[in-house]
Amino acid sequence: MYRSHTCGELRISHVNSEVTLAGWVQKTRDKGFMIWIDLRDRYGITQLIFDEERTPKDVFEKAKTLGREFVIQVSGTVIERESRNKNIPTGDIEILVSGLKVLNSAALPPFTIEDNTDGGEDIRMKYRYLDIRRNPVKDKLIFRHQVAMQVRNYLSQQGFIEVETPYLIKSTPEGARDFVVPSRMNEGQFYALPQSPQTFKQLLMVGGMDRYFQIVKCFRDEDLRTDRQPEFTQIDCEMTFVEQEDILQVFENLTKHLLKEIKGVDTDRFPRISYAEAMQKYGNDKPDIRFGMEFGELNDLAKGKGFNVFDAQELIVGIAVPGAAEYTRKQIDALIDWVKRPQIGANGLVWAKYNADGSFKSSVGKFYSEEDLAQWAEATGAKPGDLILVMAGDTGKTRTQLSALRMEMAERLGLRKADEFAPLWVVDFPLLEWDEETERYHAMHHPFTSPKPEDIALLDTEPGKVRANAYDLVLNGNEIGGGSVRIHDSGLQSRMFELLGFTREQAEAQFGFLMNAFRYGAPPHAGIAFGFDRLVAILGGQEIIRDFIAFPKNNAGRDVMINAPAPIDKEQLEELKLEVRS
Ligand code: AMO
Repeated sequence: MYRSHTCGELRISHVNSEVTLAGWVQKTRDKGFMIWIDLRDRYGITQLIFDEERTPKDVFEKAKTLGREFVIQVSGTVIERESRNKNIPTGDIEILVSGLKVLNSAALPPFTIEDNTDGGEDIRMKYRYLDIRRNPVKDKLIFRHQVAMQVRNYLSQQGFIEVETPYLIKSTPEGARDFVVPSRMNEGQFYALPQSPQTFKQLLMVGGMDRYFQIVKCFRDEDLRTDRQPEFTQIDCEMTFVEQEDILQVFENLTKHLLKEIKGVDTDRFPRISYAEAMQKYGNDKPDIRFGMEFGELNDLAKGKGFNVFDAQELIVGIAVPGAAEYTRKQIDALIDWVKRPQIGANGLVWAKYNADGSFKSSVGKFYSEEDLAQWAEATGAKPGDLILVMAGDTGKTRTQLSALRMEMAERLGLRKADEFAPLWVVDFPLLEWDEETERYHAMHHPFTSPKPEDIALLDTEPGKVRANAYDLVLNGNEIGGGSVRIHDSGLQSRMFELLGFTREQAEAQFGFLMNAFRYGAPPHAGIAFGFDRLVAILGGQEIIRDFIAFPKNNAGRDVMINAPAPIDKEQLEELKLEVRS
């Protein structure tokens, strides 16, 4: 037996027990006649004491040779500590060591393995296995496990069955590029790794599984951001004989359950807003509604007053930043610089202070009277003491820019509180979106999404106006889930492929299996997938998903620990009948 207890287990009630522990040496304090060692494992830290007078000589001498991260096994007696450490659960006791075995020595770690480390991101990623020994990383992985268990238990109780779907498949169109895998046995042919199990879960519904879920890896070759990884995990779900409302209820309840069980937070019914309303009010289809600063459109109020800059614009829109009327000229100039950065790309920013005494001061005082500005205040919901910030330009661009400014101001004012949770549903997404580059429509969600029945007639005349039975679950400004009611009619599905620019042959080659399945009694079905990494990160009070993944990729899509991707052997290439051009 390697150990009788873990390093997080012993308490005052264990005093006088003989115990054996195993773990890593976190820290040594050597006073010459007395040595203290912090012994660490996943469960905690226990202090060991080696006393020249009470510890056998050979054990005492061996203790002096231990370095950081040596793996050791010790036996000894639990004793009460003279000076207790209230910060750790085992802080009342220590082990007076009588036996010591070095199970393995360790090279000097490249950074200190403690809660606050001196290791930068790159080095910690390279030695991720050492990083995982640290509490902040370890705790996040344990947290992830707890969320996964809650999800599994909850969905199982609701009658969902977890079914595994294959990873070596054909392209599934979720809007990113595929990672492909060459097939040795089928020369010149490739599998694609799934961007999601979308088509398989639909086939499971045709197969009569009724309620499916899977916590599953998905693969997308796309540009990376803090909330995106090339391989990530979904809680993927599908249900038969349901409408949109059923899905919203089941998965609202799942989310509520998680918030309650994991965070102890009770939530009311989630607000629902349409995509159009989200864009108008927040300039964004994943609004953070932990705070206000809703957009106020000023076209009618700001045009025709002699300010040429505004007169020609499609949209003039502002927000009221709470309590920011006190901003100095310098602070405002810094904001103007911020919106002009290429990442935001705005031409400028007009401001108006609604002073605490009820007066106004603005950057466009020549053109707008106090009465005009009072109307701006009403439109943006500004109160005395607020700063109104206004942007103008093309509708789409301006909304995106003001949305970024809204988030930035919320960040600066501390309104994005990690322990507050504001979920909402965004519904009625457009079915299609126009892509300027390829000059054709793309499916906004994916090609299997059903148009709203009342909009089907528009498919022939104004496809851009057709709304979909598609919905996103948004939490604290992050899209954590998305889904739709599916098309289950092969005729309508063919029509969709046609609209998306697939020829009959292409549709047949890529999705013939699905259309064929639809000929054999496909039931109405709908579903959703949660981004599990995002969900876990947000529940954990953060937005960087990398921290919640055991072995993540860096921003360039590389695993710097195993150094992948990497070239492959000539023999392997030959076997696969592949050539690499240099
Ligand atoms: P969608 O493409 O919206 O839908 O993906 C569902 C959720 O997955 C998360 N997500 C990601 N998380 C981390 N890294 C990524 N690269 C990444 N891409 C997406 C998001 C997103 O909301 N098959 C459909 C679902 C359905 O219709 O049922 C799908 O995959 O949180």
